Amino acid sequence: MSELGVGPATIRQAVSELVRLDKIETIPGSGTFIAPKSTQRVATPADTAWQTLALGSDVSERSVLDPLVGLVPVGVIDLASGYPDSTLQPTALIAASVREAARRPGTFGRSASEGLGPLREWFEEQIDPERRHRVLIMPGGQAALSLIFRALCLPGDVILMESPTYAGALVSARAAGLTPVPVAVDGEGIDMDQLEETIGQSGARVIYVQPRFQNPTGATLSVKRRQRLVELADKHHLIIIEDDWLADLAEPGWSAGLLSSIDPDGHVVHLRSLTKSIAPGIRVAAIGAVGAIANRLHQVRASEDFFVSPLLQETALGVVTSTRWPGHLRKLRSALLDRRRFLQAHVQKVPGLSLVQANEEATPSPLHLWIDVSGRDGRTTVSDQVVREAALRHGVSVVAGAAWYPGTSDSPRIRLSNAAVGHDALELGVERLAAALQELAIQ
Ligand SMILES: Cc1ncc(COP(=O)(O)O)c(C=O)c1O
Repeated sequence: MSELGVGPATIRQAVSELVRLDKIETIPGSGTFIAPKSTQRVATPADTAWQTLALGSDVSERSVLDPLVGLVPVGVIDLASGYPDSTLQPTALIAASVREAARRPGTFGRSASEGLGPLREWFEEQIDPERRHRVLIMPGGQAALSLIFRALCLPGDVILMESPTYAGALVSARAAGLTPVPVAVDGEGIDMDQLEETIGQSGARVIYVQPRFQNPTGATLSVKRRQRLVELADKHHLIIIEDDWLADLAEPGWSAGLLSSIDPDGHVVHLRSLTKSIAPGIRVAAIGAVGAIANRLHQVRASEDFFVSPLLQETALGVVTSTRWPGHLRKLRSALLDRRRFLQAHVQKVPGLSLVQANEEATPSPLHLWIDVSGRDGRTTVSDQVVREAALRHGVSVVAGAAWYPGTSDSPRIRLSNAAVGHDALELGVERLAAALQELAIQ
């Protein structure tokens, strides 16, 4: 630390990166050592050429999700990930909850595939105060989406989606053999007239929507449109997948108009996750549904991975029922909104970046900015992917927007997130992005 003039956090980060690269190893109780050559051994490469034939065409689309899930290389500023960094996680509370869970009998045993009773009850209460929904505990929202698409749809089915929408939902829907069909989004959420027309034309039975903090536009579905969506679902026998992914970051009291709570006849399959409000490694999420849809989800769920580890479920339950939980949420919300304001102020100083404001009146998404990079005259021919690559060369990771459209995008967009880094890195990240845009002559 004294030689390099850096703090303990930087050293810790460097050490864990070197361990990851197999350059050094840490032996508890002894110290940290240069890794022996044997662990850096290079094996004779296998001749796997035959596998490309056996696998057929590539459907994985993994590269779309890499910026969201993967770690950025050392020195690169992460404006792509939507997971709050460790300074915003309730680490002491999680640690206390893990210790408590570990002492409880049965924690290392099995769980019913739908999840532990008390955790399911907590989610039931959150999803609908009247508790009409049967809850399934899932290992994160992404796994929940994947289960919902495969359990409720058939390969070849059409699924209606906001345009743009969460890329992970698109990847997962396509992997289930579904064909996403776009419906436009404006400041009040999904365009209802276009939706009604598209239902008629496509014969779709399922729609995927995010009712608040729509990722990536930040739009919030207005109360009027929420009501109309439920009515349309009733008229056309439509299943609504309501992904309330940032529920914990909304102001308390907001949930009065969730689709799940205004839907009398079980059209809504509700989804929420704790990975943003606790920590990405506490992979606990829940699906709530009613009637035969709930039965189908419960049947298919066990065939996937049996159940979520009771240690994780107990830990999550301990955290969300702690008296410290509401205070943590308040702090997290205000820290993220503060970072977002800071990021926005810096973005607005860069000529090539133009904020796409979903709705000036609604509470902005605490995590993201959705940005047009088509330049002042709106006519750049540079794609969002080229912007991402140039930004990476300049040391900042951003999300390229094209993969977030169920159809085609009309303008190059990027998403910037303020979740994973603090003020200094946000400022430097925007400077690096500005340099990348300058190199591409976008202004
Ligand atoms: C809209 C939306 N849904 C679902 C997810 C899945 O999140 P997780 O698997 O971490 O719960 C994300 C992740 O960013 C998201 O943005």
